[in-house]
Amino acid sequence: MRFSLLFFVLLVASVWVSRALAKDAALEPVSKHGQLAVDGVNLVNQNGEKVQLKGMGLFWSIWMPYYYNKTTVDGIKEYCHSNIVRTMTAVDTISGGYLTDPDYENALVDAVIEAAIEDDMYVLLDWQDFEAENHLEASLEFFDRISKKYGSYPNIIYETYNEPITLEWSSLVKPYHEAVIKTIRANDPDNVIILGTPNYSTRLDLAVADPILDQTNIMYSLHFYAGTQKEANRQVAKDAIDAGLPVFVTEYGTVNADASPPVDEEEAELWYTFMDEYGLSYVNFAISDKDEGAAALIPGTAPENVCREDYLTESGRLVVKHNKA
Ligand SMILES: *[C@@H]1O[C@H](CO)[C@@H](O)[C@H](O)[C@H]1NC(C)=O
Ligand SMILES: *[C@@H]1O[C@H](CO)[C@@H](O)[C@H](O)[C@H]1NC(C)=O
Repeated sequence: MRFSLLFFVLLVASVWVSRALAKDAALEPVSKHGQLAVDGVNLVNQNGEKVQLKGMGLFWSIWMPYYYNKTTVDGIKEYCHSNIVRTMTAVDTISGGYLTDPDYENALVDAVIEAAIEDDMYVLLDWQDFEAENHLEASLEFFDRISKKYGSYPNIIYETYNEPITLEWSSLVKPYHEAVIKTIRANDPDNVIILGTPNYSTRLDLAVADPILDQTNIMYSLHFYAGTQKEANRQVAKDAIDAGLPVFVTEYGTVNADASPPVDEEEAELWYTFMDEYGLSYVNFAISDKDEGAAALIPGTAPENVCREDYLTESGRLVVKHNKA
């Protein structure tokens, strides 16, 4: 009797401890956590305590510029229960991007950065490229300008390369990251920099085999779409973390990798359990009103209604439930 009671108490306590990290992200803002850092595999706050960021990513800047302003960021914090928002600066698309109109792209990203600072949120700045090693000069210019202008704010997190298609980590992707890190660090000595990994940010194992050793406050990005990437991909992530690699889920979807439905709720729940257990931060794709499975918003959602309950899709509702869990 006594033993089973003790067992029960221990069970409750261990469940409580493992759940303790996962909590309403909107109540965990920058004023509470301050300057972030990387300690071993963990993202930590100004007191060296583990911190978990949970939030929403905007859609490609070039196709949904109307969400790149404070009205949207307000909604993402308040109604999507987020402490982080991700920008997606288009680089090289048929409709334009940074390579063709840098001033336009800079204005969009600045509007979101300034909104995030006002709203006490972290902001993740993604260079939305698949062949960034071919656009190094533009990327250095982009990150140099932002780190000069905003690098003193603890709100800022850099994501240097969305999704490398190539598998050439050591010869192409790693040298690209090293050049961007050097440029950012000349202006901003401490904000966290997250590095894309090969095969659309799924091959953490290639970074494990040849990590960047002489830098601080860097992490590696993992992307997944629950309908496509499953247990084998979680295993790659677990092995990478066990090997000492700090991991941040800078983009995930509840649907298929091509953004199509259905929401794979069962597999998404397995991912959330894994991420909360390991204390990983995660950012959903996307604040979008496109008629596709990955969109968190129903078609025609105005910035004023972003993340309000009546405007969330099935995917949006699942994501918000976990942001506030
Ligand atoms: C953001 O953009 C939307 C759509 O263009 C507009 O309705 C809203 O007033 C803008 N908000 C701010 C704060 O500029
Ligand atoms: C890349 O990712 C896709 C989708 O997860 C997978 O089917 C494929 O096997 C991966 N290829 C390599 C070389 O890692």
